[in-house]
Amino acid sequence: MINRESKQKEFIKQYYEKRIDDLIGKMTLEEKVGQLVQISPSIFGAFGLTFDETIEKLINGEITPAEFEALERNYREDEIRQGTLGCMGGVHGAEKSNELQKIAVEESRLGIPILFGLDVIHGYRTIFPIPLAEACSFDIEKIKESARIAAKEASAAGLHWTFAPMVDISRDPRWGRVAEGAGEDPYLGSVIAKARVEGFQGESLDNPESILACAKHFAGYGAPDGGRDYNTVDMSLQTLHDVYLPPFKAAAEAGVGTFMSAFNDLNGIPCTVNKYLLTDVLREKFGFNGFVVSDANSIPEVVVHGYAEDNKAASKKALNAGLDMDMSQGTYRNELPELVKEGDILEEVLDEAVRRVLRVKFLLGLFDNPYRTDAKKEEKTLLCKEHLEAARDISRRSIVLLKNENNALPLKKDLKKIAVVGPLAENAAEMLGTWSHTGNPSDVVTIISGIKAAVSTETEILYAEGCKITGEECIDFEGAVRVAKESDVIIAVVGENSDMSGEAASRIDINLPGKQEELLKELRKIGKPLIVVLINGRPLTIPWEAENVDALVEAWQLGTQSGNAIADVLFGDYNPSGKLVATFPYSVGQVPIYYNNPMTGRPAGKIKFTSKYIDGPAEPLYPFGFGLSYTTFKYENLSILSAENKIGDTVAVKVYVTNTGEVSGEEVVQLYVSDVVASRVRPVKELKSFEKVLLQPKECKTIIFKLNTKDLGFHDENMNYVVEPGLFKVYVGTNSKECLEGEFTIVALD
Ligand code: NOJ
Repeated sequence: MINRESKQKEFIKQYYEKRIDDLIGKMTLEEKVGQLVQISPSIFGAFGLTFDETIEKLINGEITPAEFEALERNYREDEIRQGTLGCMGGVHGAEKSNELQKIAVEESRLGIPILFGLDVIHGYRTIFPIPLAEACSFDIEKIKESARIAAKEASAAGLHWTFAPMVDISRDPRWGRVAEGAGEDPYLGSVIAKARVEGFQGESLDNPESILACAKHFAGYGAPDGGRDYNTVDMSLQTLHDVYLPPFKAAAEAGVGTFMSAFNDLNGIPCTVNKYLLTDVLREKFGFNGFVVSDANSIPEVVVHGYAEDNKAASKKALNAGLDMDMSQGTYRNELPELVKEGDILEEVLDEAVRRVLRVKFLLGLFDNPYRTDAKKEEKTLLCKEHLEAARDISRRSIVLLKNENNALPLKKDLKKIAVVGPLAENAAEMLGTWSHTGNPSDVVTIISGIKAAVSTETEILYAEGCKITGEECIDFEGAVRVAKESDVIIAVVGENSDMSGEAASRIDINLPGKQEELLKELRKIGKPLIVVLINGRPLTIPWEAENVDALVEAWQLGTQSGNAIADVLFGDYNPSGKLVATFPYSVGQVPIYYNNPMTGRPAGKIKFTSKYIDGPAEPLYPFGFGLSYTTFKYENLSILSAENKIGDTVAVKVYVTNTGEVSGEEVVQLYVSDVVASRVRPVKELKSFEKVLLQPKECKTIIFKLNTKDLGFHDENMNYVVEPGLFKVYVGTNSKECLEGEFTIVALD
């Protein structure tokens, strides 16, 4: 059976390659270049702005989604008719995309279908938690399901391609785009990259409910100097290969159809024109055979980097480096024809890029089925009940309980009066997080609504805004204090605006902005139980909150179902199980801070001359992997079933985990390894496996991890992956700091 299937696949592949050859043979130079062009519709007279500027205003909230949709657009029908536009960004909606597709298929000379792409980052209309939050669930099946639902909705709205997942590792919470990734860990990042690719692309790309995924931003984009977006990245190749590339490799292995190059330069070469990355690593090492798209306008930006004298030189470098498609301004369209005519680009190189794009269009089934949806299907699919339920479920799983003193949580549902205060308590738009312009705030369950739906009809909810998210005005501290004094418990909802994270949203300080902390201090003085719910897109520095409030709930930006999911956790309908995937610094001065740092010769200790600060702790506020539950878990009897192993052997690591509390709960059992002595300095520990288990009260489960010794290596100075014999320590526990310890050795092969 498998054999028959793989033969069939091979046959289809060969059949496509023949059709591609045939098409390329018929294409003019302009038509070929057209396949490498992605442009968005232009907007007529939109406040006198370009399309990209308009998008920026949309993302910043200066233009509402409704205003944006109402703007008159030029959909470039003539270019489609001429066969010089192969891909469009920014077009969505079944009717419009079908209308444009019809022009491409029926009116262009060769009838090559258009590819429609968009940033569908955490849901299309049903908005899921920001990716950073979702990663905290450590729930790989749910993460995959969330991407699948995003694909179903996006494809129903006429899209074929999402510019996701973002798989950039980041160790710098000042960088706004940490919101879009899976945090700081390469192993977890790889597992999640695979799940998201599989969710978007499904089992087969030609399933009309699948969309093409895009691993971005290749590479190193998450490590900009100073945490400032688009800034230069300079790192050793070993760090690149050991830490930043694994999720990209995992995406390639999972069959991702496209990659996006990063804006930044990496060790002096802009990624857009970086042959080492785009060809040597991506195609030769990872065996990727889809196509690579630039980031928006990044080809002309190579000139701004000072790495090419003009757009023509930048285009030549880009195509020759392995960058297939130009996103945004039509630089390839303007420059490539002449470069080919003048012999500066070989026609074979151009043809190869065209082939890669056409291949993906064939794999999506667009030649046989160019209209994959219609308005009816779109209406039925978006925001349907099943999608909302799934969103609520993954949202509550993404919440991380950071503190819960004196069992402040869960709350009883029959309290007389609950004060819900703070600028994010009744807010809908800010729950959606970054990259959610296809969502609609009117779909959002606000926190107040979620709480009202959860409590008894007798319970009174008193609301006061207190202050704004940003700005120095106190607004209504008195009102907040008044309702708080009247109530049994205070729930304060504070955090960031959606546009304080995401692209071009790096922060110099990562504390609670505006007057929010002052508001919390006023509320604390009242002496009633103070529960703080955080809504934010990055780790924050919140030492005062960690010290002073009764309970601290990291709820991130959870999307459409925010209020319901948060209420589920606050009132104990769901026992929180999320764990941090990014370290929470104590102070911004500690950044970059991450759990898997290389071993220093002077680890922080009591004496002065060790690696620490004179004016604050070296330890983070909350470490990677940290998260509490309404129950407690006990770890016992860590044992390693084979003390001596050869490279390639599997090491079985066994541990008993017991739920020692009164309620059932899920625990993410985490396994870390460190290579004690190696030919390069190795991290103090690295996550190598985890398992999320559900335990009933008093239940004990035996967890057996099977570690492949082949996964315990690193890259040497020639970028060869090596596993070195010697002693390895194993740590198993509830977070990266609190672990049981064991050890084993890898012996040299004779
Ligand atoms: C720029 C961003 O860096 C990228 O992630 C996004 O996909 C493109 N713009 C398109 O919107």
